[in-house]
Amino acid sequence: MADIFSIFLLMVILVFSIFWIFFNFSLFYSDLVGAPFIPLRKKYIREILAIGHLKKEDIFYDLGSGDGRVLISAVKDFGVKEARGLEISPFPYWFSKILIKSKGLRSKIKVFHKNLAQLEKSDLDEASVVFLYLFPKITEKLFQSAFLFLKPGTKIICVSFHPKVIDDHFKFSLSKKVGWHLIYFYQRI
Ligand SMILES: C[S@@+](CC[C@H](N)C(=O)[O-])C[C@H]1O[C@@H](n2cnc3c(N)ncnc32)[C@H](O)[C@@H]1O
Repeated sequence: MADIFSIFLLMVILVFSIFWIFFNFSLFYSDLVGAPFIPLRKKYIREILAIGHLKKEDIFYDLGSGDGRVLISAVKDFGVKEARGLEISPFPYWFSKILIKSKGLRSKIKVFHKNLAQLEKSDLDEASVVFLYLFPKITEKLFQSAFLFLKPGTKIICVSFHPKVIDDHFKFSLSKKVGWHLIYFYQRI
């Protein structure tokens, strides 16, 4: 009896340790490649997305989509046609896939395992709204490379960080405080 209990305990500790290592590796990795996994608080998500005046025909992208709650809100609260997330870190990537499946939204929300530093033209071809909550360096890089491929009129919602210099490919429309975040809203010209 004692043996079975010891084996069970060992198994629990093993599973917990693997989960713990996977979780911490994910945090460390996302920090290294662009920005840490710090999900937005639920109470702010709707208010921030409202700034983008999302429409039923929008194809919404969250770049660094974390646990997928921003994508879920875009679909459930604003009724966008489709939401797509790009995420590099394994823990939030898998977590978001499970969350989206559990809500029965797999036909409307797709999450791709992708490094934002290696985006190609085709990755953002269909975007009409782009959302990002990332650190300044990678935000700057996106505005100077991948965002040049965006269609004219595409809306860009930046949370907390924004590029220092905006060239004439983008129009800055407004900034608004939501909680402790400053939100910056742009449009591709
Ligand atoms: C601050 S969190 C934002 C999560 C989510 N968008 C939200 O607002 O709740 C930043 C996310 O971007 C991801 N990320 C950071 N660098 C990335 C990169 N180079 N490519 C893809 N995802 C990245 C992180 O793993 C993390 O999940």
